[in-house]
Amino acid sequence: MKVAVLGATKGMGRALARAMAARGDALFLLGRDPAELAKSGQDLAARGAKGVGHAPCDLETPETFAPGLAAAETALGGLDAVVVTAGLFATQDALEADPRLLGRVLDADFTGTILFCEEARKRLLARGGGTLCVFSSVAGERGRKPVALYGAAKAGLSTYLEALDHRYREAGLKTVCVKPGFVRTSMTAGLPEPPFAGDPEGVAATVLRAIDRGTPVVYAPPIWALVMLVIRLLPRFVMRKVKF
Ligand SMILES: NC(=O)c1ccc[n+]([C@@H]2O[C@H](COP(=O)([O-])OP(=O)(O)OC[C@H]3O[C@@H](n4cnc5c(N)ncnc54)[C@H](OP(=O)(O)O)[C@@H]3O)[C@@H](O)[C@H]2O)c1
Repeated sequence: MKVAVLGATKGMGRALARAMAARGDALFLLGRDPAELAKSGQDLAARGAKGVGHAPCDLETPETFAPGLAAAETALGGLDAVVVTAGLFATQDALEADPRLLGRVLDADFTGTILFCEEARKRLLARGGGTLCVFSSVAGERGRKPVALYGAAKAGLSTYLEALDHRYREAGLKTVCVKPGFVRTSMTAGLPEPPFAGDPEGVAATVLRAIDRGTPVVYAPPIWALVMLVIRLLPRFVMRKVKF
């Protein structure tokens, strides 16, 4: 596959890009830090990827989306899949205390991500279809105390991705919405670890299978599908009492 990845410099995006490189997919990296992109390109080359190019693309700067994806299409000589693992997180306390930070997180995880997906969708459909794989979160599944704000952005993103799948699947666009549970990455460093925490490499294997099958929604690690089923069923009076 010819794949453009936004967010391969860290965490789950890096693990997924490594898994793709190892099986021979052609990769192009998009991100906000050119030095980190170059470093990640070298890392992927060491794992067997050939000529990994990169271009600037910042979720908080929509003007970078079209040029970034155009550079990917040109360098790869086509485009079969676009993967978005990039995202911003901050704790509920930090977001409640700092409206500027809140604006940035909502902007990157909702508006910016959707605008980027719209640009990717148009390009994939113009080529007859392809796969758009985007990382949302279990935080968007239910209104919960510790992720009221971050979760709201991810809930909106998940709804958009669901609709995209309904609207364009027949035209050839396979939308894969990834809903990670707690995964050990730089995003979660220092946070208390809940049960069922996962690692980026395990998530990458699960997501790669979902991309190959065109699975519209995938929980990673998979046990989080069950955890969220239970949480979705909890009545409101219980949700008001529990900490999660
Ligand atoms: N870890 C979890 O437990 C968890 C749970 C649920 C959902 N998620 C979601 O899963 C995705 C991946 O998370 P992760 O834990 O792998 O995160 P991570 O380790 O913090 O990596 C985040 C990636 O996003 C990039 N990024 C951040 N802001 C950006 C921006 N404005 N423009 C472009 N790229 C930007 C970072 O690039 P730089 O190198 O430039 O920083 C990095 O490559 C995110 O969408 C996150 O919300 C994570």
